[in-house]
Amino acid sequence: MLLVDWCIINLIGKGVDIIKLQKYLQQLGYSRRKADELIFSGRVSVNGKKIEEPWYDVKEGEEIKINKKTQIVKFKEKFVYYVLNKPKGYVSSLYDPKEKKTLKHLLKNIKEPVKPAGRLDKDVTGVLILTNDGDLINILTSAKYEVEKVYIAKVKGVIDREKLEEIKKGIIDEGEFLVCKDVTVLEAGFDYAILRIVMIKGKKHEVKRLFKYVGSKVVELRRISHGPINISLVPKPGQIKKIEGKWLEKLLKLKQLKSK
Ligand code: URA
Repeated sequence: MLLVDWCIINLIGKGVDIIKLQKYLQQLGYSRRKADELIFSGRVSVNGKKIEEPWYDVKEGEEIKINKKTQIVKFKEKFVYYVLNKPKGYVSSLYDPKEKKTLKHLLKNIKEPVKPAGRLDKDVTGVLILTNDGDLINILTSAKYEVEKVYIAKVKGVIDREKLEEIKKGIIDEGEFLVCKDVTVLEAGFDYAILRIVMIKGKKHEVKRLFKYVGSKVVELRRISHGPINISLVPKPGQIKKIEGKWLEKLLKLKQLKSK
């Protein structure tokens, strides 16, 4: 363990929330080199004062400005990140008095008050990220940030090039613009197709609605990734895994979208 990490853990353990500026930028997803570059080029200020010293102590609740964007300092140590392979038959809410199978049942062993980053329909399976990091949930789910969600869909009905072009151009359904960023045919049968679909807006039932609009029906839907988090982390339905290491680094890099 690095001396810096040891100091941070000790200070936090004693209820004194302090972290070095460089380390804090790294927690926000910047590489060490980028963090130094931002600091030394005078693009970071704390409580309105420009700080050009990577070892400067930053406290929780202080106001930090990076590249002209201001935010309040909040330490990562308090956040946890999980990925669940949501099985069929479960709703994506933590509590629903009308449903027997909720996320609560799948998260029995998770102590932290995590929430899902978006929803998957009851019959849809695959990657669901769970965290208590509200900023990240907002980035993962808001249409504004266009974080990719990749699905494998089995679609009934004839799938031709015109239909695929139409959903790539976008449609208006119930007053809402729905569009898919990319679609690839993985398998084409007589009256069905297996497709890989990339979505970026995150609207309710968006894949099913797109295909319904062009006269087809999604009969199976599985999300294989959300941002950098891939189903290979949790290959079995119902499996949950803490996101750590290089996966977490990639996930937290998304937070930079907010400061751009
Ligand atoms: N699109 C849908 O239609 N359903 C989901 O659960 C996710 C995307």
